[in-house]
Amino acid sequence: MASNSPVTVYVPRDSAARSVGADAVADALRQAAAGRDRPVEVVRNGSRGMLWLEPLVEVATPAGRVGYGPVAPSDVEGLLSAGLLDGGDHPLRRGVVDELPWLARQKRVTFARIGITDPLSTDDYLCHGGLAGLRRALELPRAEVIAEVTESGLRGRGGAGFPAGVKWKTVSECSDELKFVCCNADEGDSGTFADRMVMEGDPFMLIEGMTIAAHAVGAREGYVYIRSEYPDAVATMRAAIDIARGNNWLGERILGSDLTFDLHIRVGAGAYICGEETSMLESLEGKRGMVRSKPPIPALEGLFGKPTVVNNVLTLATVPVIMARGAKAYQELGVQRSRGTQVFQLGGNIARGGIVETAFGVTLRELVEDYGGGTLSGRPVRTVQVGGPLGAYLPASMFDLPMDYEAFAEAGAMLGHGGVVVFDDTVDMAAQARFAMEFCAAESCGKCTPCRVGSVRGVEVIDRIVAGEDRDGNLALLEDLCELMTDGSLCAMGGLTPMPVRSAITHFSDDFLARDAHAAARTARTSGARTEDTA
Ligand SMILES: Cc1cc2nc3c(=O)[nH]c(=O)nc-3n(C[C@H](O)[C@H](O)[C@H](O)COP(=O)(O)O)c2cc1C
Ligand code: SF4
Repeated sequence: MASNSPVTVYVPRDSAARSVGADAVADALRQAAAGRDRPVEVVRNGSRGMLWLEPLVEVATPAGRVGYGPVAPSDVEGLLSAGLLDGGDHPLRRGVVDELPWLARQKRVTFARIGITDPLSTDDYLCHGGLAGLRRALELPRAEVIAEVTESGLRGRGGAGFPAGVKWKTVSECSDELKFVCCNADEGDSGTFADRMVMEGDPFMLIEGMTIAAHAVGAREGYVYIRSEYPDAVATMRAAIDIARGNNWLGERILGSDLTFDLHIRVGAGAYICGEETSMLESLEGKRGMVRSKPPIPALEGLFGKPTVVNNVLTLATVPVIMARGAKAYQELGVQRSRGTQVFQLGGNIARGGIVETAFGVTLRELVEDYGGGTLSGRPVRTVQVGGPLGAYLPASMFDLPMDYEAFAEAGAMLGHGGVVVFDDTVDMAAQARFAMEFCAAESCGKCTPCRVGSVRGVEVIDRIVAGEDRDGNLALLEDLCELMTDGSLCAMGGLTPMPVRSAITHFSDDFLARDAHAAARTARTSGARTEDTA
C-alpha cells in the first residue's frame, strides 16, 4: 500500500559507522529511493553501539525499527527490492532492533537516546526526555541539586571514581565570583570510545549536564576539552552548542531562569597526559600539558587559578537523567559503593565489539563471552586488559570478578574508564609489559624522575629478561623499579604503569622466560587450540 508520508530510514552518522561506509550507504539509499514511488527520509542517527553490525540501517515500521546490517552501498538496491521500506526479509535483516537480545539485556541509562535520535534535532531531544533534568534542577536551590547528585552515588567515570557530588560541593562552597566547569573529553585510554559516542550521538545531553553543574556550583563559563583525533565529535559539539545558544539552552538567563552559562570547545594536540586533569587545565590555559603538583586541588584552584569542576564526559552526561528521575532510581542500580550503570566498551580481538551499558556488578565473563561472543579470531581468550593502558591484564581465572571499583582494586586491578580490551592466546605478555613501559616513556610529561627515567629503564630491564640475561636478578630489579614508580611518581601516569607490568609477570610468568623457552611454551599453548567460531 503506497502512502505519501515518507518512510524514515536511519543511517548512523557516528564516526565508527562512517569509517565503514555509512555515508556512502546513506547516499546510495537517497539515490535509489528517489527513483521509486515512495518518499523516503534518511535520518542520520547516532550508533546503537553494535559496532560489528555497522553500518546498521534501520527502517521505521508499525512493528518498531527493523535493522539491517552491516550494509554496503552495493546492498541497497537489493534491500529495497526485498521490501526494506516495510521491514521485509533479507539475509541482512536483524529484526526489531530494540528487541535484539544483545541490546534488550542492557540497562541503557546514559546511552538511552544514543542511536535512536538525530543528535542535532532539538525536537528529538525534547521528545525523548531532554531538558527534564535541567528544568528540575533550575527549580531547586544549588545545595539540593548537589545533594541529589551525591545521593545518586555517581562517581567520576574518568578513572579515579571520585564522588561527583563531593567535588561539586567543594566548588560550590568557594566564594570566588569566577568559577568554571570543564569537561574532560581527552579519552586517551586504549579501547575506549564512549565519550566520543556521547558527543557525536547525544551532544545536548552533555551540554545539559554541564549546565546543571554550572547551576549547582555557581559557574558562568565552561570548556569541553576534546582530543584532536575526534574531528566528528568536535564538529558535532560545536554545532550543538550553536543550536543550544539559539534556543536559550545556553547563554543569558537560560530557559527564563537566573542562570547565565556559556560553553566553549578546545581541541587538544594529542598528548595522553593532557587527559590528566591538571595537565588538561595547563593545556586549556595555552601552556604545555604538564602535571601540576596537588594540593591545591582543581576544585579549589583550577582553571586560571579559579575553583573548577573537572569531570569526565560520561559523568556529566549522566547528571540530566539523575536529576530527571531522581537520585534513588539511579542509586538502586549497581553493587556496594559502585552505584548506577557503567558504559563498558568492548574492543580488541572480540567478535562483537561495542557499547554495553549495564549496572555495576556484571562479570568480565558475561561481558567478554556473552556480550562479546569471544574473540574475533575464534581462538581462546587469554587475557583482558581493563581500564586503559595503565590497567591490569586479567587471566581467564579472574573472569568471574564483578565489575565494581572496590572488587577490582582488591584484585590489584582497576575499572578506569570502562575499556575492556581482549587478547587471544597468541599474545606475548612480555611484549605487552614492555609496551606499558614504552608507552609511559613516550607519554610522560617529564616532570618527575621515577616516571621519566624509570619507564626507559623499565624497557631496558624487560629486554634483558627476555634475552635470558640474569633472569632472576633482572626480575627483582624490575619489581624494585615498579615499587619506586608506584611510590615516587607525582601522578598516576608513572604511578600506575607498574599495574599492567606486574599483572603480566604475576599471571603470565612463562612469557618472561628467555626467548627460546618462551617460544616453545607459546607453540605448545597455541598449536591446535583453534576453537569453534563463538560469534
Ligand atoms: C595519565 C592520566 C590520563 C587521564 N586521562 C583521562 C581522560 O582522557 N579522560 C578523563 O575523563 N579523565 C582522565 N584522567 C583522569 C582525570 O585526571 C580526572 O580524574 C577526571 O577527568 C575527573 O573526572 P571524573 O571525576 O568525572 O572522573 C586521566 C588521569 C591520568 C593520570
Ligand atoms: S608521573 Fe610522569 S606524567 Fe606524572 S607528573 Fe611525573 S613525569 Fe609527569
